[in-house]
Amino acid sequence: MQFFVPVRKSRRSRMKAVKKFMKVMVSSQLPPEGMKILSASGVCDLCQWDSDVSRAELLKAVQGSHGLLCLLTDKIDAEVLDAAGPNLKVISTFSVGYDHLALDEIKKRGIRVGYTPDVLTDATAELTVALLLATARRLPEAMEEVKNGGWRSGTTLWMCGYGLSGSTVGVIGLGRIGMAIARRLMPFGVKRLLYFGRTAKADAAELNGEFVPLDTLLTESDFIVVACSLTPETQGMCDKAFFSKMKNTAVFINTSRGAVVNQEDLYEALTSGEIAAAGLDVTTPEPLPTNHPLLTLKNCVVLPHIGSATYSTRGVMASLAAQNLLGGLQGTQMPSELIF
Ligand code: NDP
Ligand code: DGY
Repeated sequence: MQFFVPVRKSRRSRMKAVKKFMKVMVSSQLPPEGMKILSASGVCDLCQWDSDVSRAELLKAVQGSHGLLCLLTDKIDAEVLDAAGPNLKVISTFSVGYDHLALDEIKKRGIRVGYTPDVLTDATAELTVALLLATARRLPEAMEEVKNGGWRSGTTLWMCGYGLSGSTVGVIGLGRIGMAIARRLMPFGVKRLLYFGRTAKADAAELNGEFVPLDTLLTESDFIVVACSLTPETQGMCDKAFFSKMKNTAVFINTSRGAVVNQEDLYEALTSGEIAAAGLDVTTPEPLPTNHPLLTLKNCVVLPHIGSATYSTRGVMASLAAQNLLGGLQGTQMPSELIF
């Protein structure tokens, strides 16, 4: 549902500042920390949604906007930019990922982009560890057995899973989040950390991380964690060939973007026993339809893209996204500007 929030403090200040008001479209609810900053600025008239905006609504409401505060679910392409028109100065995304933004089109129009790196790293790494443990130790399945009367106490191998102690962990994309995941996993007694990406990372030395070719990571890892950004090179990277190189006992975790994985190939790998289990915080599409084949599998744990979903993290993301937006509107510094 759409509503308009004219952010004008008083009649008097409105009279003084009338020339400065700029139209800002906010495509969803924004946590109060961000709203406060936008309101206090006294420079924007907000056009805001309190739930998911449809494509048609976005195209209509964005017209004439000077600023757009969007989510990763809003595909910002040439059509949206054309609909917004020449006023648009800044796009502030409430995310660190920016694969939903057509950067080439944005650049052509001289529009600045703000995003939210670092502030969600800890929350996302923590969730990734939780998902890895839940998947490897079969927590959702075990909880279900308690509820449905399937609890068996006299069997020694019932509900066994895989532990991190003495294992080899492979991280694909040892960036901010990948490194934070590795730092959290090593104290579980991980023996070797392998990583793959475009460049070797100096930080990895603190964990004795080994920069290896993808094939080495796939064949030698017991746990594979995907934490890279979605790019044309990483799209569909986790496919049939990828899963076929993994150990049959290996656990696959993805908290990056759904499109990095070929889900048909993942389903095949999970049902044929090519790999042991998968934990996904991201899927294609999102939400994943409730009748999706992956949801029928006991060895697949699917979460609804909640990597950064802690109250405090979302509050800080909102502040940062609001400050980025204001910097772009006013032609001043943005705390986290994407340089592209
Ligand atoms: P960073 O930019 O710090 O890290 C991205 C990493 O991806 C880099 O290490 C980069 O390697 C690697 N990478 C890029 N291209 C390739 C490639 N072709 N093959 C292998 N690795 C590659 O970003 P963050 O760590 O902050 O975030 C990473 C991603 O996590 C985001 O883009 C987003 O998609 C996702 N995310 C998901 C969340 C969730 O809720 N599940 C929450 C937050 C983020 P190199 O440095 O060598 O180029
Ligand atoms: C991001 O920031 O890219 C996440 O996917 C959502 O918080």
